Amino acid sequence: MCGIVGYFGKRKASEILVDGLRRLEYRGYDSAGVACLHDGSIAVVKNPGKIKELRQKVSDTATLTMTESRMGIGHTRWATHGPPTEKNAHPHLDASGHFAMVHNGIIENYKDIRKGLASEGIECISDTDSEVLVQLISFLYKDNLEDAVSEALQKIKGTYGIVVMSDHEPGKLVVARCGSPIVIGLGKNETVIASDASAIIPHTRDAVYLEDYDMAVITEDGMEMCNLQRAPVSREVTEMDWDTGAAEKGEYEHFMLKEMFEQPQSIRNAIRGRLDYDMGTAVLSGLDFSARDAAQINRVLVVGCGTSMHAGMVGEYAIEEMAGVNAEVEQAAEFRYRNPLITPNDLVVAISQSGETADTLAAVREAKQKGAIVAGLCNVVGSTIARETGRGVYLHAGPEIGVASTKAFTCQVSVMLMMALKIARTRRMPRHDGIEFARWIQKLPDLVERVLAQNKAIKAVAQKYAKADNAFFIGRGYLFPVALEGALKLKEISYVHAEGYHAAELKHGPIALLEECTPVIALLNNIPGKDKTLGNAEECKARKAPVIAVVSEGDEGSADGFDDMIVIPDCPPAIAPVPTVVALQLLSYHIAAARGCEIDQPRNLAKSVTVE
Ligand code: M6R
Repeated sequence: MCGIVGYFGKRKASEILVDGLRRLEYRGYDSAGVACLHDGSIAVVKNPGKIKELRQKVSDTATLTMTESRMGIGHTRWATHGPPTEKNAHPHLDASGHFAMVHNGIIENYKDIRKGLASEGIECISDTDSEVLVQLISFLYKDNLEDAVSEALQKIKGTYGIVVMSDHEPGKLVVARCGSPIVIGLGKNETVIASDASAIIPHTRDAVYLEDYDMAVITEDGMEMCNLQRAPVSREVTEMDWDTGAAEKGEYEHFMLKEMFEQPQSIRNAIRGRLDYDMGTAVLSGLDFSARDAAQINRVLVVGCGTSMHAGMVGEYAIEEMAGVNAEVEQAAEFRYRNPLITPNDLVVAISQSGETADTLAAVREAKQKGAIVAGLCNVVGSTIARETGRGVYLHAGPEIGVASTKAFTCQVSVMLMMALKIARTRRMPRHDGIEFARWIQKLPDLVERVLAQNKAIKAVAQKYAKADNAFFIGRGYLFPVALEGALKLKEISYVHAEGYHAAELKHGPIALLEECTPVIALLNNIPGKDKTLGNAEECKARKAPVIAVVSEGDEGSADGFDDMIVIPDCPPAIAPVPTVVALQLLSYHIAAARGCEIDQPRNLAKSVTVE
């Protein structure tokens, strides 16, 4: 969603800001802008559209304020209130032009504030909720920027990550957060602020993550932190360990392609040091509970959204099957509002690549408030969910830039399988079964490599169906979540209407939609229930729908009579989702490429969904 960058230092601010915004592009946006302060005046350049157009506009703006400034703020906007126009793009200025601000989040009481400002003769010009905040700060300003910011923030309801500057006090940036992440990178003689670490890592590894209601005041003398009531607070400086190369495309045409091919390595990173082949269990120290605690768990509730929820579904099946513990997956957005029944022996696992998804975060807070044991499975180190859960397992997938999640999913499933193994070994799973399962988890990178090696063949299948405007993915058991995930991938990046269905469910309605131009991707791997899915695929074929059969190696005969075949290495049911999903990722990718879609930044989508 929206992205923030701020800079204070000795280098040319406009360049650092635009470069930072480029690194945040993957989050999804539809307009962008920068404001620079120099020699007592503020210059703003905004543009609806892509960062490369903004970069051009900035370099065409040859004013001294733009070219000489050593401090400024920038923003990528994902439109919520008002269309993506120049007027609605950030940074926003107050009516006098003396204050500039960038804002992530939503100001829920903006209409009331706007009315109050209007009664004082201050008219907002944009359609956004954000603008009222900078107008309010300006209205409340007496002689100290942080005083005005803290006073204004106490009047608003909603979420914010902001950076504010004013030409009344050049040489000062005020930063604050509530509900929208802000990271402050502390470089040598410079400070870089961003809503996400990827804009900071090229400059420094030392970072401070703001917590809710924190304010930071950045001047030449350094950074001071306080809360909204202006009482000092101190936050640890942490070292960010992502390498900058991981956030570059390299030789690949798209981040998504690169990230799919990184999966053998990212899974290796996710499982490294976490499997005990002697005891046949997993060592997940971040979960911070002993075998005895694990044995007390009454129920596991997995919460997440989108792809993360699909990974949670695989975990649900594995925990129930292997550990014999009641497990459920819940749409995180639903969890918070339906007043779920929680007991102190319930383990709530929040899965989130970004660690910032608003619905998942809200579910975490609800679960904590209700007294559950709460753990996070996050990829982004230091993200809000990781910090608020305080206990959990990092995915170690590395930065995932493509909006369509790929390597995060396979790492999430790998970690969920290790979690299932850990709980299972405290219950009914014998040691030798544990050892065997741990060995299968260890083989995941190889299994994925064998699927990636079929890239060309999968591309040929994709090209054959690239013109279809509808598609169905069917599977059952452990492959049902994979069918959902396959359909999600296809619709996200290719804009093909795709549905994931339980194979048995198709004939309860959706089968009415099948026709010659509607391919059905049938997950027919060798797992329990395969024969029934085979029957369902035959039903599709009988309605003239072309069937792409995804089968296990050695069982190619199951594809007989169908139109195309993708072969997955044979493996146990709980392991099968990982190599199978990789084939579906490649299929979606090549369909999207053949349709000429913008794969890394699909329309309307944001990488991290920080609003409800
Ligand atoms: O960062 P999160 O894992 O919490 O994000 C959840 C979903 O927004 C995300 O998985 C989304 O569905 C992806 N775009 C899927 O590719």
